[in-house]
Amino acid sequence: MGGSGLEGIVVAETTLSHVDGIKGELIVRGHRIDALAPTATYEGMAAILGAAGAIGEHELRKRLAEARRVTFERLPAILVAAEGLSVTEGLRVGLASIPDADGPDAAIALIAAMPVLIAGLARHASGLTPIAPTSGRASVADFLSMLLGGEPDPAAVRALETYLVTVADHGMNASTFTARVVASTGSGLASSVVAALGALKGPLHGGAPGPVLDMLDAVGSAESAPRWIAAELDRGNRLMGFGHRIYRTRDPRADVLKAALAHLAPGTGRLALATAIERAALAALERRQPERRLDTNVEFYTALLLEAVGLDRALFTPAFAFGRVLGWCAHVAEQKATGRLIRPDSRYVGPWPATGAAKVA
Ligand code: ACO
Repeated sequence: MGGSGLEGIVVAETTLSHVDGIKGELIVRGHRIDALAPTATYEGMAAILGAAGAIGEHELRKRLAEARRVTFERLPAILVAAEGLSVTEGLRVGLASIPDADGPDAAIALIAAMPVLIAGLARHASGLTPIAPTSGRASVADFLSMLLGGEPDPAAVRALETYLVTVADHGMNASTFTARVVASTGSGLASSVVAALGALKGPLHGGAPGPVLDMLDAVGSAESAPRWIAAELDRGNRLMGFGHRIYRTRDPRADVLKAALAHLAPGTGRLALATAIERAALAALERRQPERRLDTNVEFYTALLLEAVGLDRALFTPAFAFGRVLGWCAHVAEQKATGRLIRPDSRYVGPWPATGAAKVA
């Protein structure tokens, strides 16, 4: 049965971000993403988006650090409730345990919970003891130290910060739309964010970067790339990290992340392999679908960058949520301030009663 993907339908007016799929441009609150991402901090991006209202970067850094301590106190009970689940599913459990409310405090609780929950769930899954947050640290450095232990490597912090800023908001993507739909009913921020995470988790949205690394492993060497890719497309499979609903050109975020990666791990074999696979994939997609421009999307270099900063592939989707929660919180606030109940229509194409009710056109 055919179904609309709502492409081209404007469902909200927003001051948060704009995606130009033809020019390959992402603008966040008046800033081009390639100008913002190399230097902006996570808290700075939260302030730009107004994810926790009008609180500025410096104050936000302090408030988020305090809120991480509160989440860490609740972590043992969350780990019990999340036993046997993946880190992404455990994150859903942890976020769902936060009371529904609105406003800056509610946003701070949700944003601060992300790094604590992801690091704690990941360590627990590996049989390691969770590491407490350190007061005074900024979110990203604290995340890496809660996850990996010790002093975080400044280069890894910067690369991860660039990633999180890059993915913080991106127009009316599926998870953001989900958050806005839930918020439009008058429900609270935690419910909106939990629902958004559910939408993000699918492989057509935020679940792709893990499979990108699987692809790199399966291809193995640059020489095997064209043959492997042809076989994959012959089987009717999609190549993870390529194609996009909006971009008809290269996703500008892919280049931002490729540059950050080159800075972090110059000359690694992995980057050379990825570049060869990208080249082979683009050539094969162009040959097979010349009428439909399929290009590299953000997830391709996300996979390499997150791997290079020390994240296991099971943490790639949670890391995406750690960045995108800033956009979700900002969109929920905007929806509540300016929006209206989102309630579209459907067209009934099922059977009608044999007798009785008349068919209504
Ligand atoms: N590999 C091979 N073929 C592809 C790919 C791909 N990655 N992407 C699209 N195509 C093909 C489709 O099979 C489709 O042909 P079909 O209708 O005969 O099946 C044709 O190109 C047109 O597809 P679109 O209409 O452009 O695809 P859509 O907008 O529905 O989907 C999506 C976009 C989901 C991102 C798709 O390109 C895809 O599945 N990519 C792989 C998964 C991926 O990388 N996801 C991350 C997206 S980025 C993000 O969400 C942050």
